[in-house]
Amino acid sequence: MSILNLPRLSAEEAANLIPHGATVGFSGFTPAGAAKATPRALASKAKTLHARGEPFQIRVLTGASTGSALDEALASADAISWRAPYQSSPSLRKRINAQEIQFVDMHLSHVPQMVEFGFFGSIDFAVVEAVDVYADGRIFLSTSVGATPSFLKHARKIIVEVNRHHHPRLMEMHDIKILPAPPVRLPIPINHPLDKIGTPFVQVDSTRIVGVVETDEPDDVSPFAPVDDVSHKIAEHIIRFILEEKAQGRIPREFLPVQSGVGNVANAVMAGLGENPDVPPFFMYSEVFQDALVDLMVQGRLLGASTTSLTLSESQMKRVYDDMDFFTRRIVIRPQELSNNPGVIRRLGVITVNTVLEMDIYGCANSTHVAGTQLMNGVGGSGDFTRNAYLSFLVAPSVAKGGRISTVVPMVTHVDHNEHSVQVLVTEQGLADLRGLGPIERAQRIIENCAHPMYRDYLFRYLETAPMGHVRHHLDRCFELHQNFLKTGSMLPDVV
Ligand code: COA
Repeated sequence: MSILNLPRLSAEEAANLIPHGATVGFSGFTPAGAAKATPRALASKAKTLHARGEPFQIRVLTGASTGSALDEALASADAISWRAPYQSSPSLRKRINAQEIQFVDMHLSHVPQMVEFGFFGSIDFAVVEAVDVYADGRIFLSTSVGATPSFLKHARKIIVEVNRHHHPRLMEMHDIKILPAPPVRLPIPINHPLDKIGTPFVQVDSTRIVGVVETDEPDDVSPFAPVDDVSHKIAEHIIRFILEEKAQGRIPREFLPVQSGVGNVANAVMAGLGENPDVPPFFMYSEVFQDALVDLMVQGRLLGASTTSLTLSESQMKRVYDDMDFFTRRIVIRPQELSNNPGVIRRLGVITVNTVLEMDIYGCANSTHVAGTQLMNGVGGSGDFTRNAYLSFLVAPSVAKGGRISTVVPMVTHVDHNEHSVQVLVTEQGLADLRGLGPIERAQRIIENCAHPMYRDYLFRYLETAPMGHVRHHLDRCFELHQNFLKTGSMLPDVV
């Protein structure tokens, strides 16, 4: 076994090496490939120290969200003081919104270069999951790459969790490359989603590897719920629109690579695209490879995928591991700086689908902050893809909380995607193609096509009575719906 010459540690011993106040770069992009045993042991160490009245908190960097053994365990143990760049853990979210943890919400493509340029300060430890590590310092990552290569390059000390649960041939999918810093950064030679430009491993100086923790544990990715009616309708609108665009010659006959965000709507869109005989077999250039894509690949509908994580439930992961000859030729897992790279996304002409919390009548969208203050997850990769797409869709159900919230509002309370980036908005009510429209035309189309009928009159009245300008707004009333919700629990108490 290749790790024989490296020091072995228990998870507890590994956790004991990491001091209070350390900055730790953990592997993980979604639960895929996230470090597991060491963060769990760190959480338990924190609880013991806190019970004795001693402080213990660390600064946590990852690729994106993680599994429950990392964010959820550490946050519930009050062991995090600072966190970047994305999360989806209920306990962490609660502490962030209570100002107990400083959270930096970032475009995911920016993370590796922020580390490279030193903008986060020094990285004390990298704790990373791998399928193997060689005594010469070659580390073969597991189900995600994310920002791990940059954490490994810059960390003073490295702990590797070698997870025997994962297939050793994952290394055949990996394409590891860290871009040099400007001014010597050259164009990235990815001209096709499956082009590889790097190595299957991360090379580190092995003297920095302070220990190897052996584990045998799956990624805790939940299977998707069956597609609900709303997601199904949103998917139908998008697919119909894409086919119309193709018929008009605005999408080439051979099609374009597709990106879809996390969640049920995205999964429904991918399944719908795959099933539709008028959509030719296609490629993906995305950041997550989710359950629906395994079936599409087996059926020959999805020809190949570039991603930074294999976010698969256990049963779908098993199908991949059972046929690595097939899947290793069709999937490339690369650092998030490349999977989400604006230049590559623009060059390849990616069609993107991402979910938002609310959209406004002029086309700005909020993905992250409920009522402008309460963080949900983070912007993730949605900005990387939406801003640089050939054709981008932002989607949401037209109402939330049983109709008490309209997701189409006069002005969003937090802007993640502004009107200059947003092209097509979609709810189950319909689709608003905003390309080439001025603000008032946009507003009319969004209200007519996307707003729920319960809220349309309010929104039209708002628009028609607002003071004249290039953009019309009542500055004293633009958040009236949100204020109603906060006061009464419903945006329009009269209509629900
Ligand atoms: N105001 C208040 N609450 C709202 C809301 C709004 N406008 N819209 C939705 N919600 C609530 C829902 O009611 C639900 O609450 P619950 O958990 O109490 O039931 C919750 O927000 C999540 O909504 P849901 O409809 O289940 O959406 P989702 O799971 O598809 O997540 C986002 C939606 C926007 C939170 C999620 O897609 C996200 O984090 N996006 C940003 C990152 C991203 O796009 N990543 C992919 C890039 S590749």
